[in-house]
Amino acid sequence: MIKFKAIVGTEENVVFEWGEKEEVNFKTGKNIVVVSLGEKKNFSPYVLRKSSALLIKKLKELKFTAASLGLDFFEDKKFSSEAVVEGILLGDYEFKRYKSDKRPDGDLEIALVTAKAKEMLEVKSGIDEALLVMDSVNYCRDLVNEPSSVTTPSYLASEALKIDGIKVKIFSKPEIEKMGMEAFLGVSRGSDEAPKLIRMEYAPHGAKKHVLLAGKGITFDSGGLSLKSDEHMESMKMDMAGGAAILGIFKALETLKPKVKVTGLIAACENMPSGKSIKPGDVLKAYNGKTIEVKNTDAEGRLTLADVLSYGVTLKPDVMIDLATLTGACMVALGHDIAGLFSADKNLSENLMRASESVGEKLWEMPLDGDYKKLIESPVADLSNVGEDRYGGAITAALFLKEFVSDIPWAHLDIAGPAFWEKVGPYGAKGASGFGVRLILKYLEGLL
Ligand code: BES
Ligand code: ZN
Ligand code: ZN
Repeated sequence: MIKFKAIVGTEENVVFEWGEKEEVNFKTGKNIVVVSLGEKKNFSPYVLRKSSALLIKKLKELKFTAASLGLDFFEDKKFSSEAVVEGILLGDYEFKRYKSDKRPDGDLEIALVTAKAKEMLEVKSGIDEALLVMDSVNYCRDLVNEPSSVTTPSYLASEALKIDGIKVKIFSKPEIEKMGMEAFLGVSRGSDEAPKLIRMEYAPHGAKKHVLLAGKGITFDSGGLSLKSDEHMESMKMDMAGGAAILGIFKALETLKPKVKVTGLIAACENMPSGKSIKPGDVLKAYNGKTIEVKNTDAEGRLTLADVLSYGVTLKPDVMIDLATLTGACMVALGHDIAGLFSADKNLSENLMRASESVGEKLWEMPLDGDYKKLIESPVADLSNVGEDRYGGAITAALFLKEFVSDIPWAHLDIAGPAFWEKVGPYGAKGASGFGVRLILKYLEGLL
């Protein structure tokens, strides 16, 4: 268990330094750890978090039970204490639930040290904020790392109902049928697990803006009848990472208390093959009346989001943002560290980029190029659920979603790459990263 505290003083045994590469060095004999942050000109909050994540591994390896980190190296004490605590907790995370050896790590007390008494409060508020946010990030990671036989749609619904300080409504299958969400129901049809539409609402007094967050909530994506290969199916318990991020965000809202109304929507279901599954060639009608030819049942996330986003429009938010592990193509384009940002609204994409730079969850803006719209035309329906070929697959998927957002300012985050590290990620552990929780919380904070 790691405990953090803020203290005033000059005693430090963890010291930050500029250096040639980012790495954690250990100077023997003096019980001092030197954290090299790489070249000053390349420094960013991302570097500090990554180094702090490496640092915690080193401290544990060296069996430290207490350490004091000198923050005087940094100008901004709130930012640096927040980044250090986040990095340490990101790096410390392990999903041990199914390991026989569940022995907890030894206790470690980390003091963040500042020389000036008047900076104590800044350090303390940095620590407190980071602890709160990281609680949500690691909660999200647990949900994604859990096997999909545990995190079923009903399980996600029960998690939403456990969150304090918000209003939650779970729509059952008959209710979803009544609403006419054929695309969502189509995806869930092959599974024995009942679909759940989860709606969460955080509405503080005096809120001037209303942000709607939609998360892809496919609790397992086998591909359906367009079945995935074993290699591609292996990690598909992670296909609800967007939805899990929304649950994580809502968990933090009651304490963070941003003065903005937030609605969260998750269409949770499994994508499975069976005698009841949708078939390639089937046509489904989405909530907004548009018809979709399902050419490939593995492009299921956009079907569920078509219904969720067009339902979202009826709630008249000022802004809609979706987080979705939507395409392998986005992963091919941007790799495991960076999510694709698609938006026709400059103001919204700039705000998201600003939040991204501040929390170190990387985004790269991708084109929503209208010329590619012809690639998702269908001879029998209003739209096809896949492009003509696999090229530009992340863009055609985003253009498909755009058909369901009406004229509401909207951004789509394709988090297929950064949501789940199949190999060791930038902060250490393999598996879920909690991507999106810190980003969106920072974005909401910036709206005030
Ligand atoms: N859930 C996948 C996308 C994905 C792939 C997420 C890898 C994370 C890692 C999505 O439902 C999917 O299968 N997309 C297809 C779309 C294709 C059929 C047009 C893909 O990317 O191959
Ligand atoms: Zn799929
Ligand atoms: Zn999927």
